[in-house]
Amino acid sequence: MEKEKIAIMGMGYVGLTLSVVLAKNGFEVYGIEIEKEVVENLKKGEPHFHEKRLKAILRQQLRLNNLKICESFPNEKIDIYIICVGTPLKKESKTSNIDYIRDVVLNVAGHMKRGSLIILRSTIPVGTSRSVVLHLLEKQSGLKAGKDFYFAFAPERTIEGNAILELETNPQIIGGFDERSVTLASDLFRKLTPTVINVSSLEASEMIKILDNTYRDTVFAYANEIAMICEKLNLDATELINAANTHYSRNNIPNPSPGVGGACLSKDPHILIDFAKRAGYDAKIIKESRRINEYIPIQIVSRIKAKLEEFNKNIRDAKIFIVGFAFKGEPETSDMRDSTTLLFLDELKKYASDIHGFDPVVDNEQLKHLGIKVCETMGEGYSNADVILFLNNHRYYLDLEPFEICSKMNKPAIFYDAWRMFEKELFKNIEGIHYMGVGL
Ligand SMILES: NC(=O)c1ccc[n+]([C@@H]2O[C@H](COP(=O)([O-])OP(=O)(O)OC[C@H]3O[C@@H](n4cnc5c(N)ncnc54)[C@H](O)[C@@H]3O)[C@@H](O)[C@H]2O)c1
Repeated sequence: MEKEKIAIMGMGYVGLTLSVVLAKNGFEVYGIEIEKEVVENLKKGEPHFHEKRLKAILRQQLRLNNLKICESFPNEKIDIYIICVGTPLKKESKTSNIDYIRDVVLNVAGHMKRGSLIILRSTIPVGTSRSVVLHLLEKQSGLKAGKDFYFAFAPERTIEGNAILELETNPQIIGGFDERSVTLASDLFRKLTPTVINVSSLEASEMIKILDNTYRDTVFAYANEIAMICEKLNLDATELINAANTHYSRNNIPNPSPGVGGACLSKDPHILIDFAKRAGYDAKIIKESRRINEYIPIQIVSRIKAKLEEFNKNIRDAKIFIVGFAFKGEPETSDMRDSTTLLFLDELKKYASDIHGFDPVVDNEQLKHLGIKVCETMGEGYSNADVILFLNNHRYYLDLEPFEICSKMNKPAIFYDAWRMFEKELFKNIEGIHYMGVGL
């Protein structure tokens, strides 16, 4: 039997991981990408970001010819098109930029045939599938949805760093233009994952994607607000939250964090705030949560500055060593998009000039663009440092020896452990070191 042919537009975090998993599950996949350099590297089996198991499966599927990477559509009839291009926030208005979607939809409309299934996977404001994507597809192709072609929205809900595994285990939500569209899209995803959940409309599936991420942002903001209150009360927020959660089934309070970053969690609440407003509702908790999560990295700078002043040190002359630039450490990723470390760095640069950095996953070439002194080793960074900050939660730090680090620092010095990776008690025995964290 001939394999179904799928074209996936956008070889980013979402499109590339989905492409390799579909290729591995028996489809003939064309990965379409407009960035020449990305295309060249992918053809050689070199992904442009770190994701567990990605490189090996990419190479295997290229070799087996199940996956072909191209700059434009092949001269082949494609059965299914899956749109995975970016939908970044506009800087000033913090509203969704759907220009990439518009461009790619025009391309698809020119290539699709009767019977094609089109699936949108990018995150978009509720209503966009119908009012923008379907509208453009019908207008440009002259075909009618539900009669000549089929259309569904199937949001990506995997976690970066573990996307390959989750694509084959996570439940997949499907909303479609009509029953046939839902059935076709469900049949596709059922070949990847055991649970497919069909919802009543395109809009329902669009909204589920956004409410998922916004929920997480909101609960993280709760923990972060508790942390800021604990700082005022001289209480240790992590100790309190862990105690409150222990064997108490009604609680699942997250630990505080140095803000909330990453391309999705920092973007999706803004999308929700915007379309809720356009629909006539002012989203209060969601808006305030985002504000808290964006404020924490700024607040860390002012706490560090004030503590250095207590030590009669000027932040301008202090050697500051930042560890962890990827937006998270667990599961590990090289993605720095909207990392809270970058928000922290922007604020820090207003006061400090001797800033050093290290990340166990991000390529040093990428760090060099941040205007900091990039360290080849941890030791280079912490030797004579006045401040060391661990700003993400990579497990690499667990093997570090805090006594060794502190012995080389310029005391009195600050050891800032944003994710509480180290035992607080250890630092009580280290003279000249002030141990700090979010909510401590
Ligand atoms: N990163 C995640 O884990 C994640 C999770 C859930 C949802 N999403 C959503 O999925 C979408 C994609 O996210 P991403 O992180 O993969 O973005 P990305 O920026 O990493 O990738 C998008 C890719 O699309 C390419 N592209 C743009 N226009 C194109 C065109 N006309 N034809 C072909 N390729 C084109 C870009 O060059 C880029 O490589 C976004 O809407 C995002 O919000 C992302």
